[in-house]
Amino acid sequence: MTYAAITGWGKCMPPAVLSNDDLSTFLDTSDEWIVSRTGMKERRVSHVGAIELSTVAASRALACAGLDPADVDLIIYGGVSNDELVPNSASGVQFALGATKAASIDLNTACTSFCYGLTTATAMIRTGVVRNAVVIGVELISRYMDWSNRGVAVLFGDGAAAVVLQASDNEEGVLGSVLGCDAEGRQTLRVRGMGCTYALHDITYGDTIWDFDGQSIFKRAVHAMSDASRRVLEQCGKTADDVDLVIPHQANLRIIESVAKYAGIPMERVIVTVQKYGNMSAATVPVALVEALEASRVKPGSTLLMPAFGGGLTYCSLLVKWGERVTPLGQSAAELPPVTQTALEMVNAIRANQDPHGRSRDGLLAPVFAESSTPAAVE
Ligand code: UT7
Repeated sequence: MTYAAITGWGKCMPPAVLSNDDLSTFLDTSDEWIVSRTGMKERRVSHVGAIELSTVAASRALACAGLDPADVDLIIYGGVSNDELVPNSASGVQFALGATKAASIDLNTACTSFCYGLTTATAMIRTGVVRNAVVIGVELISRYMDWSNRGVAVLFGDGAAAVVLQASDNEEGVLGSVLGCDAEGRQTLRVRGMGCTYALHDITYGDTIWDFDGQSIFKRAVHAMSDASRRVLEQCGKTADDVDLVIPHQANLRIIESVAKYAGIPMERVIVTVQKYGNMSAATVPVALVEALEASRVKPGSTLLMPAFGGGLTYCSLLVKWGERVTPLGQSAAELPPVTQTALEMVNAIRANQDPHGRSRDGLLAPVFAESSTPAAVE
C-alpha cells in the first residue's frame, strides 16, 4: 500500500505587524473588544504578492524535504487570494521555483483550501498519479479587505506555508479525511467585487464589500468542525485520547475552544496562533503546523487532528499520522525582500484607493446577476 508522507514544511510570514491599536486609528474599535471577542492581538500585512509569499514558503518546505524543485510532480496552490486569475497562481509558483515538470493547480475552498489540497494530493499520490506534491496554503487578504468595515477588517491577516508530500510504504500522512459543504449558508460569507458577477463594473484595487454574518458563521463553524472531527476519528477507529495535537483553523479563539471541548481534548493539546496572526484563511492550518514542528510539539509518530471551516461554507477534518522525522533535512536561502513601510502605512495606502470615485460602493458592487438566478438546490 502506498501512503503520502509529509516530508517537508516551511512558512513565510510577512514581517509587518498590524496591531489592534493600529486598527483603532481608523475604525471605531478597541483592543479590548477584539481580544475579548476573537483572541486576536495582531496580524501581518504583506508587502509582496501572494505568489512570492508562496514561493518562499514552498522553497523552505522543499529544502526541509531535501527535494529538488526540478523533481516536483504537482503543486497545489490553496487559497482565495490570487495575484491574477489568469494565469493561475500555481503556475507562477512553478515558474519561480523552477519546478518545470510540476502539474500546477489552484484550489479554492476558502479557509479549508490547504486541507482540501492536502487530501487531494494525498489521494493522487496514493493512487499513483504523482509521486510527490507541494501543497500551499496562502492568503493576501489585506489587498481586498473592506477596510471601512470593522466587522471584518479586524479579523483577517496575510501569510503562507507549504508542505511536501512524498510516496511512502509507511502508514503515515493523511489517514482519514471528512470533507463537506454547508452550502445552505453560503450567503453568510461573501466578498462582493471579485469574480465575473462584478466584471462589468469599474472595480478598483481593494474595492470590495464583505457580507459577513459573524454569529451564524460562528455557530455553523463549531457544529461542522466538531461533527467532521467526530466522524474522521470514527472512520479511522480512533478516539480523542489517541489525538496528540489538534491543529485547527484559526478564525476565533472561542471557536477553537468550543471545538476542542466538543472533541473532549484539553486546550494544552491544541495549537493556537490566532493571537499573533489573526485569521489567515487557508494559511492558518499549515502555519500552525509549521510552528508546532518548530516548537517540537510534533513528535515522531504523533497523531494530529486538523478541523477547518470557511466560505462556501466548506468544512473538513483530517487525521494525520506523523512519520519519524521532525527536523528539516536542509535550509533554503529564499527570503522576502526587506519591507520599507509599516503595516499601517500599507493599509492606509490601500484605503486611499478604495472608492476613489466617491460613489456608493453598494451601488457599484451590485451583482450583475441577481441571487435568484442561482439554480435552486435540488432536493
Ligand atoms: O474563517 C472564516 C470563518 N469565520 C468565522 O468563523 C468567524 C465567525 N464569527 C466570529 O468570530 C464572531 O461572530 C465575530 C468575532 C465576527 C463577532 O463576534 P460576536 O461576539 O458575534 O459579535 P457581534 O457580531 O454579535 O457584535 C456585537 C457588537 C455589535 O454591536 P451592538 O449591535 O451590540 O451595539 C457590533 O456592532 O459588537 C459590535 N462590533 C464591534 N465593536 C467594536 C462588531 N465588530 C466590532 C469591532 N469593534 N471590530
